[in-house]
Amino acid sequence: LRIAVLFGGRSAEHEVSVLSATNVMSALTPEKYDATPVFITREGQWLLSSFVDGVLATPSSGTEVCLVPGGRGRAMAIPARGTPYELVRIDVLFPVLHGPHGEDGSVQGMAEVARVPLAGCGILGSAAALDKDIAKRLLRAAGLPVARAVAIREGVVPSLTDLESELGLPLFIKPARQGSSVGVAKVHANQEFAPALAEAFRHDRTLLAEEFIAGREIEFSVLEDPAGELFVSRPGEIVPAESHGFYNYDAKYVDENGAALKVPADLPAEVEAAMRDTAAKAFRAIGCDGMARVDFFLTSDMRFVINELNTIPGFTDISMYSKAMAASGVSYPEIIDRLVEHGMA
Ligand code: DAL
Ligand code: MG
Repeated sequence: LRIAVLFGGRSAEHEVSVLSATNVMSALTPEKYDATPVFITREGQWLLSSFVDGVLATPSSGTEVCLVPGGRGRAMAIPARGTPYELVRIDVLFPVLHGPHGEDGSVQGMAEVARVPLAGCGILGSAAALDKDIAKRLLRAAGLPVARAVAIREGVVPSLTDLESELGLPLFIKPARQGSSVGVAKVHANQEFAPALAEAFRHDRTLLAEEFIAGREIEFSVLEDPAGELFVSRPGEIVPAESHGFYNYDAKYVDENGAALKVPADLPAEVEAAMRDTAAKAFRAIGCDGMARVDFFLTSDMRFVINELNTIPGFTDISMYSKAMAASGVSYPEIIDRLVEHGMA
């Protein structure tokens, strides 16, 4: 099977995607797959990459790649100099892109237009899950528990006093469409509010002010089989180091000791069962298919809210998706096999 792995991309999670895709490429063993990595530059250009000795090439120029609309996997290579030529036909497109322009339905739409099978979540679920404002509304409409939040649009920003009366303090300011906590800030007092807004507005025109839930971070991996049955993993727990305040970008990827992962998380059986059931319902409520990681906060009195869904969860060495699946008896190569099978079904 010929798999095109898309990675890099225009989002702030560009580097995270390179780490994730390196692991995905390693799992796509040559005995089973003929994998072609395609690097998307920060400007959005698709360039032919290579995977040699465990290292993915991230060229700044070179041979461009494009999918032919309606081409059922026909792909063209366009060298910077020289004559365009046809690549071997692609069987499956496997985006390993995080955040806007890749995890948000855009690339998934491209697969649809090109009529090429796609590994992972489709257009609607991707778009809805990546937008925290839309996702929250869908989850709430399905009767699922979420933290209270207020959407903030550029030009109509409420005062912190107004937000405080609705959400309490501290509260979180988040761009509606970002991942890996990029642009997210915890606001305790007025002097932190304007800088938090300014930073978050660098990433999106819509923000969320969200109530702070003091609780444990519990995550579940959801994987759909080709027949549409959902597999929900055992829970994983993120234990962030005190020094980071919350599980932010640095705690995730920069500081080696920024957080510890505990898999499976230690939960009462009935709480785990209720959360797994809610994870599956959330997956459906958002319109996901294929895969997603469903992230929760769990308070000390064992009440939980869904924080968010990630339709292309991290596959880096420190990421939870594959660890929670492994704790549930599904190995890394099996995840990849199932995603490919699901895409082709
Ligand atoms: N957005 C990052 C990659 C995650 O959810 O794991
Ligand atoms: Mg996310």
